[in-house]
Amino acid sequence: MSTATAIASPNIAFIKYWGDQDPCLRIPANSSLSMNLAGLITRTQVTFDSHPSEDALTVNGEGITGVSLVRVSDFLDRVRQLAGFDYTAVVDSTNNFPTGAGIASSASAFAALSLAASAAAGLNLSQPELSRLARTGSGSACRSVPGGFVEWQAGSHDEDSYAFSFAHPAHWDLVDCIVIISQLHKLVGSTSGHALALSSPIQTARVLDAPRRLEICRRAILEKDFQTFADIIELDSNLMHAIMITSTPPLLYWQPTTLAVMRVVQDWRQAGLPVAYTIDAGPNIHVLTSSVYAPEVVARLVQLENVLQVLTASPGGPAWLEA
Ligand code: PMV
Repeated sequence: MSTATAIASPNIAFIKYWGDQDPCLRIPANSSLSMNLAGLITRTQVTFDSHPSEDALTVNGEGITGVSLVRVSDFLDRVRQLAGFDYTAVVDSTNNFPTGAGIASSASAFAALSLAASAAAGLNLSQPELSRLARTGSGSACRSVPGGFVEWQAGSHDEDSYAFSFAHPAHWDLVDCIVIISQLHKLVGSTSGHALALSSPIQTARVLDAPRRLEICRRAILEKDFQTFADIIELDSNLMHAIMITSTPPLLYWQPTTLAVMRVVQDWRQAGLPVAYTIDAGPNIHVLTSSVYAPEVVARLVQLENVLQVLTASPGGPAWLEA
């Protein structure tokens, strides 16, 4: 019997991943950029044992069966194959943030699972190898393996599709103010969403222009140029949601409050406050600002109608193994 425990943070994408070249291996249609979110964590313990006949999974203390367990078991098969054994696993995972509502819980979940499972299996994977493994569980999970500001190079094969850090967490004191509008599980998960991307007539144009947006965003981060950063992340988020809304069938993740926050963020920026929004596959909205303005931004956000809660996170570190 062997056990390991790992901790990973979710990440927020500034240049989004939406659509796959290869859905099985989760090779994305375009490269993406993100920031890990410090303080929000998934903690996952994996124990390999020859005894139980099937893998077992608990998330936040609740036993999980069905498709979610199958997804984790399929992922563990990759680890078992790498390790050359067929022991079953007991996986126990907890999040300290709401699951399934636009904070990428699958990213931190599969990043933590990759590290815990590979360590418990006695594999000593390099960071790119771990990132590749995490990618096969959930694409964006590959970006939660390295720390700080991260690029996932799309590549075209399993070997060249992984994420790496291009700036340390301390590089820029950005704060992500995560505006929780709904704590409900999203209706259409991102795996099904990626499969619909190409049914939108504008996905090809979004993907073709992605390297240009990524370059602008990377430079804005490296130069700490908030105005350029704000314009490009809002454009990229709007483009991804344009794909979602124009897919067949269409996906509309926004709630009226999501749109209200988008408008107010643009008004505040016009009036001189450094704020910008980005939205993942859910109704919640991430409002980026710098640390000096974060208390003011949070104070304003919590006063808006139908805002349940505002969480804050600064740039976070890589996934790590608990001693
Ligand atoms: O990793 P997935 O399959 O959950 O996809 C993530 C998709 C978005 O969060 C909407 C965008 C991104 O790049 O994180």
